[in-house]
Amino acid sequence: MCGIIGYTGPRQAAPILLDALKKLEYRGYDSAGMAVISLDAIQVRKMRGRLQLLANMTRDGRDLPGTVGIGHTRWATHGEPSYYNSHPHLSSSGRFAVVHNGIIENYRPLKDMLIAKGYTFLSATDTEVISNLMEYCDQGDLARTLMAAVKHLQGSYALGVLSADEPDRIAAVRRDSPLIVGRGEGENFIVSDIPAILSLTRDVYLMKDGEVALLDPEKITFFDPYGEQFDKESFHVDWDVSAAEKGGYEHFMMKEMMEQPTALRETIRPRIKDGRFVLDGLQLDPDWVKSLSMVHIVACGSAYHAGRLGKNLLEGRLGIPVDVDIASEFRYRQPILKPEHLVVIISQSGETADSIAALREAKGKGVKTLAIVNVVGSTIAREADYTLYTWAGPEIAVATTKGYTTQVAALALLTCCLAQERGQMSGEELQQMEALLMKLPDAAEEVLSDHKEVQRLASLFFNHKDIFFIGRGIDYSLSLEGSLKLKEISYIHSEAQPAGELKHGTISLIQPGTLVIALATGKRLRDKTISNIQEVRARGAVVLALCLEHDEEIESVADHVLRVPFLCEELEPILAILPLQLFAYYVAALNGNDVDKPRNLAKSVTVE
Ligand code: F6R
Repeated sequence: MCGIIGYTGPRQAAPILLDALKKLEYRGYDSAGMAVISLDAIQVRKMRGRLQLLANMTRDGRDLPGTVGIGHTRWATHGEPSYYNSHPHLSSSGRFAVVHNGIIENYRPLKDMLIAKGYTFLSATDTEVISNLMEYCDQGDLARTLMAAVKHLQGSYALGVLSADEPDRIAAVRRDSPLIVGRGEGENFIVSDIPAILSLTRDVYLMKDGEVALLDPEKITFFDPYGEQFDKESFHVDWDVSAAEKGGYEHFMMKEMMEQPTALRETIRPRIKDGRFVLDGLQLDPDWVKSLSMVHIVACGSAYHAGRLGKNLLEGRLGIPVDVDIASEFRYRQPILKPEHLVVIISQSGETADSIAALREAKGKGVKTLAIVNVVGSTIAREADYTLYTWAGPEIAVATTKGYTTQVAALALLTCCLAQERGQMSGEELQQMEALLMKLPDAAEEVLSDHKEVQRLASLFFNHKDIFFIGRGIDYSLSLEGSLKLKEISYIHSEAQPAGELKHGTISLIQPGTLVIALATGKRLRDKTISNIQEVRARGAVVLALCLEHDEEIESVADHVLRVPFLCEELEPILAILPLQLFAYYVAALNGNDVDKPRNLAKSVTVE
């Protein structure tokens, strides 16, 4: 996610901005920039790539004079990483500069409106509309201008703005994106994350949605969302810096698991407009969509597991065959691909070598390719014919969590969009799905809000040598992901089996005390899974069942039960995976493992 810093005070701003941006690097970024006011004009330095390049370019900021400035590390969303798409963005006249974290959902109509009024645009970003809106709404007062400009915006934002006409000041506002104001001695700051300014001050103001802050070197003025000035209480930070970088969590994996409701919201919300599914970046020819006769989903690891759930969604709604394959298999098996087929490549990083090769294989055969990717501007995102981004934000822990759940959400969006274009979902069905998708982030928040029971169960089983997962249908696909999550970070041997397949071999491994995690969240096959639970219990297995709330019968057949609220069969896996991610996390942590960087694994597998 983008990082923001702003400084006003007596010292040279650029070196302070660079130092703070360095501390925001862990948020993930692909370009960086600064804007500083010098001689009543705004100077911008920005570039694609590592922060060190910006530091070299400005001789660690020394070449950029001025005592008021804003800085930004950009994690690309709209528009690939490039000089023009980097922040800060200037207004057409160069009098306003803006840094932004978030997504402006209505930037297209705003851009059209501003272009019609003669404003010019240099970037493909949603942010540039804000710098031009500042100029369009100019009230001759920085804070009032910002208040007027944000009235036009829909979506999420944390903003830091400069005006050449008020050269000592920064104005800032936020909605659904983080922004903090820091109070120093004769100098003040804005920042995305407290740790980046902890060496400068420990007195901060936590901005609420819609509040505006106006920073001078000697004072900070706050305005409520109605434009009224008010006194805000500051907060003294006494945490240690390394904990704060992880937002107070012990590991990035926990932070990222907890970010899932937000990641789902960001992925889903902008894609549903006025009761229709509108996928940016997917201008598919309607006749071709109608002629679509097969989908091939190709991915590795957890992304492959997400793809298996996509098969269930797409086949269920489109009634056409969907093949799911592991990229390293697909690329060598000479798949039968036809012009009326679609190849969907799923990849969080967009840089997985086998997935890139599979994409090129499909493109080489002249088939349309669609990528579901999290990292903007990555190889897969650039090379695929169409790209549907998961807006999960940077994922730092090696074991994917929010990357995976947003992939499943993106597959649900893709399914609805294709079914809508093919006339295979009625208006009522589309509305129902829209309502369920909109509810999903809150439901995920509910599941994640209490993990005491998962933690207790992890403490019972963390020293087991083998853990089996069983399930049928979508519960089997979910078992694969639950088992992978557990083994990759806990180093406990684990395998997932279709529940009905156990007695064809694997049941010989079940001994008294073996833990079997049985997934029974799918209503259709639940009774069959209960029979399989009984089979393993008869061989002495201890069964931990994951089922829907109110499923009382499971209590009588399982030793331990975890429950998730019911949303709908197709989307249930997004909720049901959450306790399994938490279980894996706690088991790994209890074993004293390096949860974020498990042995032998890399975040992005860029070799075959
Ligand atoms: C497991 C995990 C991996 C990745 C796989 C694909 O937690 O993270 O299995 O899912 O390496 O990576 P991407 O999605 O980047 O292509």
